[in-house]
Amino acid sequence: MPGTATSAASRTATSAATRTRVPAAPARALGAAAERLEGLDKVTGAARYATELAHTPPDCAYAWPVPATVASGRVTAVDTAAALALPGTLAVLTPDTAPRLGEPDDPNLAVLQHHTVPHRGWYVALAVAETLPDARAAAAAVHVTYAAEPHDVTLTPDHPGAYEPQEANGGHPARRERGDAAAAFAAAPVHVDATYRIPPLHNHPMEPHAAYARWDGDHLTVYDSSQGAGPVHAVLARLFGLRRDQVTVVSQHVGGGFGSKGTPRPHVVLAAMAARHTGRPVKLALPRGHLAAVVGHRAPTLHRVRLGAERDGTLTSVSHEVTTHTSRIREFVEQAAVPARVMYASPHSLTTHRAVPLDVPTPSWMRAPGEAPGMYALESAMDELAGALGLDPVELRVRNDPATDPDSGLPFSSRHLVECLREGARLFGWADRDPRPAVRREGTLLTGTGVAAATYPVLLSPSTATVTALHDGGYAVAVNATDIGTGARTVLAQIAADALGVALDSVRIDIGSTRLPRAPLAGGSSGTASWGWAVHAACTRLTERLARHAGPLPVEGLTASADTTEEAGRTPPFARHAFGAHFAEVQVDTVTGEVRVRRLLGVYAAGRILNPRTARSQFIGGMTMGLGMALTEHSTMDPAFGDFAEHDLASYHVPSHADVPSAPDIDAYWVEEEDPHLNPMGSKGIGEIGIVGTPAAIGNAVHHATGIRFRELPLTPDRVL
Ligand code: MOS
Repeated sequence: MPGTATSAASRTATSAATRTRVPAAPARALGAAAERLEGLDKVTGAARYATELAHTPPDCAYAWPVPATVASGRVTAVDTAAALALPGTLAVLTPDTAPRLGEPDDPNLAVLQHHTVPHRGWYVALAVAETLPDARAAAAAVHVTYAAEPHDVTLTPDHPGAYEPQEANGGHPARRERGDAAAAFAAAPVHVDATYRIPPLHNHPMEPHAAYARWDGDHLTVYDSSQGAGPVHAVLARLFGLRRDQVTVVSQHVGGGFGSKGTPRPHVVLAAMAARHTGRPVKLALPRGHLAAVVGHRAPTLHRVRLGAERDGTLTSVSHEVTTHTSRIREFVEQAAVPARVMYASPHSLTTHRAVPLDVPTPSWMRAPGEAPGMYALESAMDELAGALGLDPVELRVRNDPATDPDSGLPFSSRHLVECLREGARLFGWADRDPRPAVRREGTLLTGTGVAAATYPVLLSPSTATVTALHDGGYAVAVNATDIGTGARTVLAQIAADALGVALDSVRIDIGSTRLPRAPLAGGSSGTASWGWAVHAACTRLTERLARHAGPLPVEGLTASADTTEEAGRTPPFARHAFGAHFAEVQVDTVTGEVRVRRLLGVYAAGRILNPRTARSQFIGGMTMGLGMALTEHSTMDPAFGDFAEHDLASYHVPSHADVPSAPDIDAYWVEEEDPHLNPMGSKGIGEIGIVGTPAAIGNAVHHATGIRFRELPLTPDRVL
């Protein structure tokens, strides 16, 4: 049943059904399975995305970028004559003619500012024309000459260019060592020493990266499909030398991002540049085929995991070493060894990252960067260890659950992984499982089940918000939050209603613009906690002011503001993480090699669940993305062309509906977790943890089904057969 929360045996069961009975007092808005406030607008087409019709003035022009066709080298000449001769062409910007910009922090945004080509697909020109087809035709007619240089795009574990960086993504130290992992591994009676490999992966949000830009004198207005209008605003002000009040960025409705829209991307810079150059409003929506090269990707990772254990399953040594690639122009190191630092108690531990700079696009965030690939490797190795020990894999994890964070030594603010594993095992029917691999055969089909744990850190950023008591009895909440399809708008309105003690429908919520109070981007599963804290604080303050206020409201209403810089910036004396357990049942066709997921279950401990309807959707969305990572998603770096080979959704396979089980065969549950060390709502992030344990759970189920251990994703028929 949608939105139903099930508790662990030791906790009080609370379900959406029991909450929705008609109460004597007004229902609490927070925790209710509220429908998305913009749901009707979205399904009727009234919700307008960045470059949709509503923002199209009659003089709007269109831009289409020209990607480099060499993987390394320099642009020596750009011949624009043929493009300019086409009907409708307004301009062609090149590294020689484009407006000069300020220097960005991210070298990927220095578009058309120099002649160097750091990777194939790097933009080397921009065509601007009267219509979209005109712009595309003009871009195709631009002739670029290069001085190509040899390129290297191939990641190998022993690559001579590998180095150990200071930090991996997220500011984590690249190396952590506790005790003597190598000696403890050598001394352990039971070992696993395994290597795993994950290919590059791409974010393909339904709505591609797209922007509309318009100049009114010296004021730049941009509608961008972004996870944070704030960071886009800061970058545009810096690049175009504008004061903050000379730039407005709107990100009203966003059709997914998954991390790829978490940082400003070249399209928004190009759109603003083209608008300034032509004096016309300009739209630029990236074609799907360009995304792989210009919006970041999940870097490929090579993993070596060594686990040493006593015969009773007690881990004595955990070692996780990761090698990945980065680009030549910006270091980004997928922090895939980081989750191994918090998962299991072990007196000896080594976690390291090495990076190889290659002539590839700069990798970046993709849902649970670090945790998703790292936990595939660690949780596959744990399954291998359970096999070597002859111990149930749920039990192995329970036995190694640490009392305090093994890495920092701090207590956990709350940790209910064991409850997730136990509750998941109960719901999934794990007790009936025959542990022997390859024994459930029906005709050509082999069936197996697998389990894996998940974790995601609790992140938080400072935010501001305002709320105004209006004359009509309503309340207006304003915060530059972004709803990338998660239901952020709805849950923020719930937080406000709850803090004000009013019904949800008396709250109006305004998000997605830099004209609103400053707020961080939607990323790191931290949006609700970060924005929500500021909304909660503003509403609490307004309630106090209203209580003291005598007489009628002022004409403009009564407003309260909050800024959580101090509270949110405090370093807590706790390790704060969400946890989860994933269970999968697969069928493997021994004739075709096809793997079908029959059942997928996630049980989470993620603090208080603020809206069971949208939370369940987030969890299942993450699990679905994990299913894709396990079975279908795969990108290939072509060594000859230096290019990702998969340029469209026909070759880069995200799961289709037919690949994903229907509820209740796919479902998400959670244990009710009370954690007073998070934020006033008591919530942890939920946007990413769903992807984290899913690939290993599926891989472990494939091993259970077939008796064969595959250590490279995805598990496509050609590999499995
Ligand atoms: Mo998410 S990868 O933190 O946008």
